Amino acid sequence: MKVFSLLIFIGLAHLSFAQPLYKDKKAPVESRIKDLIQRMTVEEKILQLNQYTFGENRNVNNIGKEMNELPAGIGSLIYFSADPVMRNRIQKKAMDSSRLGIPILFGFDVIHGFRTVYPISIAQACSWNPSLVTQNCRAAAKESVLSGVDWTFSPMIDVARDPRWGRVSEGYGEDPYTNAIFGVATVKGYQGASLSDSFSIAACLKHYVGYGLSEGGRDYHYSDVSAQSLWETYLPPYEACVKAGAATLMSAFNDISGVPATANHYTLTEILKQRWKHDGFVVADWNAVDQLVAQGVAKDRKEAGLKAFTAGVEMDMRDNIYRENFKQLIQEQKITMAQINDAVSRILRVKFGLGLFDQPYTAIVSEKDRYLQPYSVQLAADLAAESMVLLKNKNNTLPIGIGVKQVAVIGPMAKDKTNIIGSWSFNGHSADAQSIYEGLEHEFQGKASLNYAKGCAFDGQDEAGFDEAIAVASKSDVVIVCLGEEKTWSGENASRSTIALPAIQEKLVAALKKTGKQIVLVLSNGRPLELLRLEPLSDAIVEIWQPGIAGGDALAGILSGRINPSAKLAITFPLTTGQIPTYYDMRQSARPKEGLYQDIATEPLYWFGHGLSYANFSYAQPVASAIKVKKQGKVSVSVSVKNTSEVEGKETALWYISQPVASISRPMKELKFFEKKNLKAGEEATFTFEIVPTRDLSFTDANGNRHLEAGDYFIEVGKKKVKIELVD
Ligand code: NOJ
Repeated sequence: MKVFSLLIFIGLAHLSFAQPLYKDKKAPVESRIKDLIQRMTVEEKILQLNQYTFGENRNVNNIGKEMNELPAGIGSLIYFSADPVMRNRIQKKAMDSSRLGIPILFGFDVIHGFRTVYPISIAQACSWNPSLVTQNCRAAAKESVLSGVDWTFSPMIDVARDPRWGRVSEGYGEDPYTNAIFGVATVKGYQGASLSDSFSIAACLKHYVGYGLSEGGRDYHYSDVSAQSLWETYLPPYEACVKAGAATLMSAFNDISGVPATANHYTLTEILKQRWKHDGFVVADWNAVDQLVAQGVAKDRKEAGLKAFTAGVEMDMRDNIYRENFKQLIQEQKITMAQINDAVSRILRVKFGLGLFDQPYTAIVSEKDRYLQPYSVQLAADLAAESMVLLKNKNNTLPIGIGVKQVAVIGPMAKDKTNIIGSWSFNGHSADAQSIYEGLEHEFQGKASLNYAKGCAFDGQDEAGFDEAIAVASKSDVVIVCLGEEKTWSGENASRSTIALPAIQEKLVAALKKTGKQIVLVLSNGRPLELLRLEPLSDAIVEIWQPGIAGGDALAGILSGRINPSAKLAITFPLTTGQIPTYYDMRQSARPKEGLYQDIATEPLYWFGHGLSYANFSYAQPVASAIKVKKQGKVSVSVSVKNTSEVEGKETALWYISQPVASISRPMKELKFFEKKNLKAGEEATFTFEIVPTRDLSFTDANGNRHLEAGDYFIEVGKKKVKIELVD
């Protein structure tokens, strides 16, 4: 009897004093989630579905009130601060004052670096070096973690073919495959081998989906996405990144053919959760739930919340709509507890995955040891060097020869340190950045003198600086003109009706050309530009995009010849704004050589894939390992590439496939693989594309079903083609 009582006592003691399962580090995550869910009240669950903002006021001493007002059980915060001490204070409140001690997920827009700002995404894609991108993102993740950030709203993998849209700067260009590869590279960098690694942050794929197709390049606007292009063009980067393990997605602002992306059950639930089995969560973009009212599909905020949630958006960014309305919607039986539990589980899964329950606090490291570490600055410099595109180099104007003793450096971008780091660089400091001028100063020290004049501002009509600029150019051997866009001209809500630079900048170049000196045009901008008038005035053109803090040094290295440029465009430069949209993988047309504009040349100025080097690479005829290939078989196509020059250089082989006849008209050609290799002077290397027909030769229909059809296919590399035949 005594023994029996003792056993009961031990049993009860175990129940009341043992730590709950969800706090047990060793228990499987799914069991921890289940255990926690069954302990949570409805109110606690609803709070997890909301994201607040915090810390626009960066002074830790002034935020007491803001912190007191913050509910302890909130799901997530957009953390505008970079202070780990403040994060820990907020987190402590969540851990200690919420009944169950659920950590907050701190999110922020870490888009192209945190404090060490590296090139914007469109530039990164031009590097064709995804592993370098992964390394840069890994370094950014570490700076983010040490600043209190667990989750970044990146990568943006919206295929974009209208450079009037300011957000082309944030993605990886016009091609679905390129967006997929660089999206995956970015996810790998942020999330590392495991989300739970000390310096991993969760990625967020955005903006799901079709946002890049906003009509006329106008931001936040309607997008008419046919089911065929949804599956063929806009979904593939998302599918690749979901497969690579991206923890979260953000639903977009646009309306997809009448059903807003944030209320789209088909894309959010049927495709993402049911077909692709994504088990993380979707956050709405800023105000996107509320905007369902403006978009005309919800009569009020409550209905907007219902529509977004039941379509598959688990977290409400900043609108407070879920928090205000969900209790009532549950009572009215419009939302079930099963739906709430599933949504909360998804959010908890990311929190458990990041290890936040077991280590909710950020290690405190001094700013000196946290930011701008030599290895991360070096990575930013390497990526900048590989992402600058040499667009034109008439008569080998570049590199600047040793005979050149006087170099004119002119233009509004020459000494700029603010715009050069690019949009979405909130934690970047312009003081950390190297200007073009500083880079050149360092590079040419003791070799040539620099003569500077600003010439004009980025915009406006003031030509007062022209005379000085002309004088500076006249006494120099070569003229480097540094033009471009202010950083606010691209990014969100930064659409432009023309992609030409303001007339004042073009006039400056025309005035400088009259000196008869060689003109090297350096462009820093977030979108392809209309260079119709500038190109004929320039002997050489280097597109440096918004290269981040180390851009000055990288450009100087390219101009001096220390660095051999190796980037190629990931987005086409149309000849004029009126030529938009122009992209390399257009579908085959009825009369390919006709119907084009009669008043301008038919071709864009620079196609996707264009980019020069100081080396010359000669491509032999590609050879296929077999001419007839079975659908379930494999074939490899190889090409020998020789560096016929006297300088070492990197070459990217871009492999395209075209299928002239199919049951659905196919694009003229599609990029399916690329590889970048370094070739010494005179060296020859073999590039090989291992083709798996089911993966590389199949295409999707409007329902997402893949088809593999027998027939002829052309494999193109270096403008040379080989034909293979696919047989049953
Ligand atoms: C709105 C932007 O569209 C999105 O890209 C960003 O991540 C969120 N705001 C949060 O800042």
